[in-house]
Amino acid sequence: MTLPGIEEIRALHEKYAPTQEAFDLVYTHCEIVWHLSAQLLAAAPLEWDGELVRAGALLHDIGVYHLYDADGNLDGGNYIRHGVLGHEILRGEGLPERLGRFCSHHTGVGLTEHDIRSQRLPLPPGDYLAESAEERVVMYADKFHSKSTPPKFLTAPSYARYVARFGTEKVHAFDALRAEFGEPDVTSLAARYGHRVV
Ligand SMILES: [Fe+2]
Repeated sequence: MTLPGIEEIRALHEKYAPTQEAFDLVYTHCEIVWHLSAQLLAAAPLEWDGELVRAGALLHDIGVYHLYDADGNLDGGNYIRHGVLGHEILRGEGLPERLGRFCSHHTGVGLTEHDIRSQRLPLPPGDYLAESAEERVVMYADKFHSKSTPPKFLTAPSYARYVARFGTEKVHAFDALRAEFGEPDVTSLAARYGHRVV
């Protein structure tokens, strides 16, 4: 099944974004994750499908749009559900499962069934771990940019400090990704988008 191109993907964002503000925040973040992924892959000794990385990165957060209420506020308590919600959106659009997986399998450094049960997360029990090189790089690249207010880029040490609160196994998972893909140059992208780096 063919993957959607940039214009089709942008149209999907416009279709599901409840406001222009939500579109700007989420689409810009997705575009940044695509640039970060491409940058990491350019330096990685791996075979990858560039079209799949582009579509996966550009669509990975589309489920976030379903978490805005009528007043334009994000439902923070259910934020973790944005991945499975995005997967459902893409399935409903008739897009292939290999694309939907970028939505449901990019949270943190991978969610396990144990995480879901022990933290009582509002998700169907199961493992949501990035598997292919394309899924792993998008999940990893996503850790270097945040849709906070205002949006910001993170360095690898900043994300490592943040993820430590979720346990040492998450720190190890992040370290393994860091060893596999290296660290992106967030400074030049931050300057291009006018976002800060923390
Ligand atoms: Fe993201």
